[in-house]
Amino acid sequence: MSAGDPHALLGDFHTDLWLPDYPTVTCGAWSIRRIMMAAARGYWGDVYRIAGTVILAGPGMEGRASWMSLTPSEIESQEIGLRAAHGHTVVLGMGMGWLAANVALKSEVDRVTIVERDPDIIALMEAAGVFAQLPEAARRKLEIVAADALHWRSEGPVDTLQADIWERFVEPQKLDQVRRMQDNIGANAVYFWGQEMAIWEIACDQTGPHPPMDWAMVHRIVSDIRLPLILPDWPDFPAKITSAARWWAPDHRDKPADRATA
Ligand SMILES: C[S@@+](CC[C@H](N)C(=O)[O-])C[C@H]1O[C@@H](n2cnc3c(N)ncnc32)[C@H](O)[C@@H]1O
Repeated sequence: MSAGDPHALLGDFHTDLWLPDYPTVTCGAWSIRRIMMAAARGYWGDVYRIAGTVILAGPGMEGRASWMSLTPSEIESQEIGLRAAHGHTVVLGMGMGWLAANVALKSEVDRVTIVERDPDIIALMEAAGVFAQLPEAARRKLEIVAADALHWRSEGPVDTLQADIWERFVEPQKLDQVRRMQDNIGANAVYFWGQEMAIWEIACDQTGPHPPMDWAMVHRIVSDIRLPLILPDWPDFPAKITSAARWWAPDHRDKPADRATA
């Protein structure tokens, strides 16, 4: 049974990115299904009226944890890295295959390696037929590797690395894990999901709970992080980090912890 056209579900949130049609499907602990929603907050803090979404539910919360969804927050929070992808791009964590599929659709990208540790996710995506919906030219760029992203090493050079192996925007081990993966992969440029919240957390640690975020602070923190992080050229990016952190940063920065999942 089809889970419904995700374009229609997104209501007044608009994106030019590709949205596959997802069927309702289950494999092991994972399932894809459609849920009703009246509104959803985007990553940068704006609220959109939507009709519902398609979610990837999986391990955690007794199998009901949302690992990915076609919501404004998920789309906006993966977009910076996605727009910058080029050459050989490695995508760590397949999930619903949405990011990898959109990377493969870019003319600047000639090869996409997806590293996924859970065979049930790989089988789920096969059953959902997500990549089969891509044009042949994009599909031919994809290679799926069943491996743990924390240990996987690339055989050839990697231009851009997109890491999204987590359930939550903020997880304490995230930065260490990204460093570990980049040590093994050595990509020229890296984007990891929720990296703006990592920048925000470091700013809070350095200056207190309400950091005066500006580009100088962003550049200083990114230089301290010692990863070749992909940043947008938006003048208002520091203000957007501040706005996003209000909703997605954890409890001890003033906000309830249950707002920290997408
Ligand atoms: C949040 S989802 C990725 C969503 C994806 N960006 C998308 O567009 O649909 C995270 C994925 O990472 C996978 N994962 C978690 N830990 C991993 C690891 N250590 N190595 C490889 N994959 C991992 C999970 O099984 C899951 O498929």
